[in-house]
Amino acid sequence: MNTMPDARTYWESHFASAANACAASRQHAACLEQFHERYLQKDGTILDLACGLGRNARYLAQNGYDVYGVDFARAAITACTRLFQKQFLKGTFIQATVDAIPFCNNHFDAVICIAALDHVTADYARDALCEIRRVITRDGMILLTFDHPETDEDKLDQTHALPDGTLLFIRGKYQGMLFRRYQDEEIKALVGAEHICSFDYGKEGSRVVVCR
Ligand SMILES: C[S@@+](CC[C@H](N)C(=O)[O-])C[C@H]1O[C@@H](n2cnc3c(N)ncnc32)[C@H](O)[C@@H]1O
Repeated sequence: MNTMPDARTYWESHFASAANACAASRQHAACLEQFHERYLQKDGTILDLACGLGRNARYLAQNGYDVYGVDFARAAITACTRLFQKQFLKGTFIQATVDAIPFCNNHFDAVICIAALDHVTADYARDALCEIRRVITRDGMILLTFDHPETDEDKLDQTHALPDGTLLFIRGKYQGMLFRRYQDEEIKALVGAEHICSFDYGKEGSRVVVCR
């Protein structure tokens, strides 16, 4: 298991700061409503992979799903657990990495992974997709989003390109964070074009992919 220590340290401190930890006030991702209405059954078991502070997990739990969340940041897991307790929602949150999902095969009816696969290296994202496909049922649906490739374009001088082209922030506010600037074609190659049910453009040019 590649633990990506720098990236994890970045996310831990990001979530630990008071300003970022106000989970309850965070709006869920807009694309989640469409995914819920178009692709999901009325109930089911859903994994929020790289769940962050739980804004999307909360939306799913409020809509009747049996929700599980995984994130490698301990601070994220703690925040989600607290948020769910406070709002009397049912959910299970586990600290783990996206390339080693701690659930058995065919466990979930759907997996969402929002704004996270572009925060790992290319190999790692491929491993994560294999894991997602392992834990999902045969007819299960997957929702992925990738930020616009020019997000933080003005901060490129704070980054170092890893051998696979993924950017590692080496100074500044995002130090330790990884960001891979996916072009549309790279996303299609990563996911497998034949598996894609829809490919849309969301807020601020993010790419919203529904696939199997
Ligand atoms: C931009 S945040 C998105 C959080 C959440 N999906 C949302 O939409 O609010 C990226 C998340 O990915 C998590 N993350 C990054 N790399 C990870 C890894 N290798 N394994 C598990 N989680 C990871 C971070 O801890 C963070 O919670």
